[in-house]
Amino acid sequence: MKSLIAGNWKMNGIGQARVEIESLIERFGGSMPGDRDILICPPATILRDFARSYSDEGIQFGGQDCHANTSGAHTGDISAEMIADTGASHVIVGHSERRADHGESDEIVKAKANAALRAGLTPIICVGETREQREAGIAQSVVGTQLEGSLPDAAGVFVVAYEPVWAIGTGLTPTIQDIAEMHDFIRAKTPESTRLLYGGSVKPGNAQEILAISNVNGALVGGASLKADDFFPIINAAP
Ligand code: G3P
Repeated sequence: MKSLIAGNWKMNGIGQARVEIESLIERFGGSMPGDRDILICPPATILRDFARSYSDEGIQFGGQDCHANTSGAHTGDISAEMIADTGASHVIVGHSERRADHGESDEIVKAKANAALRAGLTPIICVGETREQREAGIAQSVVGTQLEGSLPDAAGVFVVAYEPVWAIGTGLTPTIQDIAEMHDFIRAKTPESTRLLYGGSVKPGNAQEILAISNVNGALVGGASLKADDFFPIINAAP
């Protein structure tokens, strides 16, 4: 399966963003390698501009969230159709930061994933346990419940990102065996063609080992996707 290396810029991306993305493209000799998919999810304010400026160089773009409705009285929200209209191909839904900061339930995440498919976008549905849940030995049942509640019922291709909450932005990662076991578990609950990404402190130093795990089909990278120096070796580490 073709790897997908995705960068989630979160609420970062003014200042050096353009310099970094141009430096990344330059390192690949002017266009991205075609044997892996490279996706960047910048803040919504620069999504259209970046999608128009850099899609021809082989970078795909995505949103970081969408509303479940197409339009209406939802101040501050952006619909999946609006994200698709920027030229984006993907949208992240159910990131743990949104589940925590905005109280997003599995039901809401499912509605957003369905909305993404309706708009012609590929949703990247995030799941993952907290530190307490892993220590209590319930990581798989937590992720299983999230999958049951969050996966779309609309037809179409989606991606699942396993992001243990305690590994995000902390420099901590599960063991290779723990990642492998969770990805095998998720694989058994998703269509064979679904790409399964690992996210949580993916860095140049651990990317190769993580991306070599059999049911890991790519990575969802936060902090290390902001700098070409870090993102370039991670992209190159994909099999
Ligand atoms: O969505 C990616 C993310 O949550 C992981 O962040 O900074 O640990 O790579 P980071």
